[in-house]
Amino acid sequence: MSSSGTSSPEHKTAHDASEHNRDASGSAPTRSRRGLVLGIAAAAAIVVLALALGLGLGLGLKHKHGQSSSSNSSASAGTSGGDGSIPSSLAVVGTPEASAALLSMDIANAAPTTRNYDFVVEERRGAPDGVEKLMLVVNGQFPGPTIEANADDRIVVNVTNKLPNSTAIHWHGLFQRNTNFYDGTLAITQCGIPPGESMIYNFTFDGYVGSTWWHAHAGTQYTDGITGALIVHAKNESVPAYNGDLAIQMADLYHGFSPALLNLYFTPGGIEGTPGNEPVPDGGTINGVGQYGASNSSFFNVTLEANKTYRLRLINSGSFVAMLFSVDDHVLTVIEADGTPVTPFDVASVSVAVAQRYSVLLHTNASAGAYWMRAGLDQDAFTYDNPGVQTEVRGILRYGVANDTIPDVVLLDNPPNLPSGSPGDLDTDDLVPVGGGPAPDATFSVYFTISMQYTGGPNYLSQFLSFINSTSWEPLQGTSSLFSHLGNKTADGSATLADSQLVTTIDEEHVVEFIIDNLDDGDHPFHLHGHKFWIVGTGAGRYQHQALDNKAPMLRDTLVIPAYTYTILRFVADNPGFWAFHCHIQWHMGAHWSMQAAGLLFQINVLPSESAKFAIPQYMLDQCAKAGNQQP
Ligand code: C2O
Ligand code: CU
Repeated sequence: MSSSGTSSPEHKTAHDASEHNRDASGSAPTRSRRGLVLGIAAAAAIVVLALALGLGLGLGLKHKHGQSSSSNSSASAGTSGGDGSIPSSLAVVGTPEASAALLSMDIANAAPTTRNYDFVVEERRGAPDGVEKLMLVVNGQFPGPTIEANADDRIVVNVTNKLPNSTAIHWHGLFQRNTNFYDGTLAITQCGIPPGESMIYNFTFDGYVGSTWWHAHAGTQYTDGITGALIVHAKNESVPAYNGDLAIQMADLYHGFSPALLNLYFTPGGIEGTPGNEPVPDGGTINGVGQYGASNSSFFNVTLEANKTYRLRLINSGSFVAMLFSVDDHVLTVIEADGTPVTPFDVASVSVAVAQRYSVLLHTNASAGAYWMRAGLDQDAFTYDNPGVQTEVRGILRYGVANDTIPDVVLLDNPPNLPSGSPGDLDTDDLVPVGGGPAPDATFSVYFTISMQYTGGPNYLSQFLSFINSTSWEPLQGTSSLFSHLGNKTADGSATLADSQLVTTIDEEHVVEFIIDNLDDGDHPFHLHGHKFWIVGTGAGRYQHQALDNKAPMLRDTLVIPAYTYTILRFVADNPGFWAFHCHIQWHMGAHWSMQAAGLLFQINVLPSESAKFAIPQYMLDQCAKAGNQQP
């Protein structure tokens, strides 16, 4: 892609949203923090913009009513509210002030400490893009609280579950060395926090530095809002200097409630008559603020200082599609990916797959003004037409002008091109870790295939599920992989687990190699818990001993395995516990208790003789009796 622009957004639907209950991000007073002025567009400007959007973009287009309700009325998850109906008694989701995106510039110099957080998980009514939906959120906000800490800090999070179903919170990308039981992966490292109960996660970073996030790891709960940023600062991080630091959380957004959408996905025959059609999002959000037709014209917006360098930490906290990030008229310098500092290089835009993170530097040295920030949904992943989908989320970034300045609305659908000769979209082949070198030779190899198939029986009557090799993962009930292995005296700790658990046991320290053939026609963003991996080989077709590229392979925790390609990963398996390796698309890994999981998830059981001895808090084990069989 040669410009900072993205595909033209379509505003086909002028949705008549009945209510508009979100706290407008534009209502906060101007705030100042650490010398930065953070401004919020004035209400008047928003009204003008609403008119511009409604009149300019909605003209001549048909109204479609009930988009959100029709998408989920035909399925029920069988829980109260599981069909996505929104109890009016629920409190309304708050949108964090835009200033919450600004990160600390001095925390890296603070002495090591323990940082305590209270997370209350509950159902709320929310409308991130102006269309009301049932949401699951932490502390009443979407996105939830940002955890910001130092590399040597300890984090203690007391999570209270006020949902009708059990939950678990995962700290994506963290290593959890010797604390596998705090990895927060339902049915693998814990049973889940039962409704009405609490659990304390208590962990350190073990060398993880950089940008990441936390999210529910129970069914598809995070799709409905249980996400937040997790930023680990360090004095000695190998990245260029910057003057300001911002978290930009981008996510696709569904107006339906995820359990209902998951049911639709599993409907025999599939959505729109094609098995395996993933639900197409209705739009998206940037730091919790999206737009949808005429039903919302609020924007995440931030006022920076001119002639400075800002670090933008791009996080895709969405459920399905990659988000293409750009800022009009600005080149971005990539400096970090998934907590790995990389040799800096310039791009016009960055495609961030689900669960990936990138830090980019942005220099506020163009003309003083207001610019559109764009997060485009990757429509290549859409398998059917969703009328009204907002294919690009917009935000506002400004400097050198008043903090209520809005960019030219004419540019909304006509993004300016960067001058010719400017860099293009991020090419992941250009990612080189700072100080990187060859990955060690593999001493243990695992081969698997990824595919999507019928479970058996006549087509269209059976479910279309995801498979690793010939098995689809089904979450354990009433226990977890780790718990069922505690006190296990056998060398092969997985011996007691059924084949559907898809466990490979690595009983001594090994350099493990995953050789993966993606036989499916879709791209899958895979994530490994507890480790980073080197990407030593990728290419078209199946792996047939093609040459590797092991000069200075990228080291990260989430990568896209494109359709009909192979990928070879290596990692040092020295971290005891059960670790998931899975596709992060919620429809593909989403475990569903009332039906089979889609199950694109694999587990490694590393150093079982050590994990068998973990001293796990007794109450976590006791929670199994209550958490079992709860629908996530
Ligand atoms: Cu982001 Cu299995 O997790
Ligand atoms: Cu997938």
